[in-house]
Amino acid sequence: MLKNTLKKAAREAGQLMKERFNSGFRIDNKDGVNDLVTEVDHASEKLIMEIIRNEFPDHFILSEEVGEIKMDSAYKWIIDPIDGTVNYANGIPICCVSIGIEHEGKMIMGAVFNPFMDEFFFAEKGAGAYLNEQRIRVSDKDNVSHSCLVTGFPYTYLDLPNGPLEVFGRFIRKGIPVRRLGSAAIDLCWVAAGRFDGFYEHKLNAWDSAAGFLLVEEAGGRVTDFEGNYYSPYQPHIVATNGKIHEELLKWINNK
Ligand code: IPD
Ligand code: CA
Ligand code: CA
Repeated sequence: MLKNTLKKAAREAGQLMKERFNSGFRIDNKDGVNDLVTEVDHASEKLIMEIIRNEFPDHFILSEEVGEIKMDSAYKWIIDPIDGTVNYANGIPICCVSIGIEHEGKMIMGAVFNPFMDEFFFAEKGAGAYLNEQRIRVSDKDNVSHSCLVTGFPYTYLDLPNGPLEVFGRFIRKGIPVRRLGSAAIDLCWVAAGRFDGFYEHKLNAWDSAAGFLLVEEAGGRVTDFEGNYYSPYQPHIVATNGKIHEELLKWINNK
């Protein structure tokens, strides 16, 4: 039941995103200069919440635009109604819906749907990761120098040692490809699918990574913070890899 509701919510919200793509929707700004939110983010969020509430009216919800709807429940749905909003607002079809479900503080299920590529990613704790019903696995690359990486940058630049540009520069100077797709949830799913060998980012929110990090783990990869500690979506740093390059990637990030 939980699984069906999760899949239905991600699929229907993705379809809505696709239908309304390039339809002349309203675009507003949040905090930063280009931290955008569109009418479709709100519409997608509303639809997802209606579908969840219909089946599970007493579950806790954390969703990017509405924030927390606290309930005394062991279940918590963590929702990003559009991940990749800047892409979406500019007509770039690299964006998705991302929904994760926590049970007693542990991520147990996640779904990420990119309707533009018709790619539906799903993972369940202990039951593997799937792309359109096919089992997926991380890559087997075993060194950073020959890896294909992906990252993202925050809306407000973080001027700190080993900040986003310093780390990015380290790879680019050595000719290591680092892509920037603009959707952390897709970045994570593409690590799970073996397209990227590793992903790192300095500042994410729980809704960006909740579903995607379970996908990577269930595809056989490893996800930590920048210190190599077990990942919690409630802190900002993330490193997600195929496992084999993980320790080496941490050294590159920390300049060790
Ligand atoms: C953003 C995307 C982007 C990442 C940003 C996120 P949004 O989410 O995931 O890839 O670099 O940090 O905020 O705003 O499009 O939902
Ligand atoms: Ca996001
Ligand atoms: Ca979003």
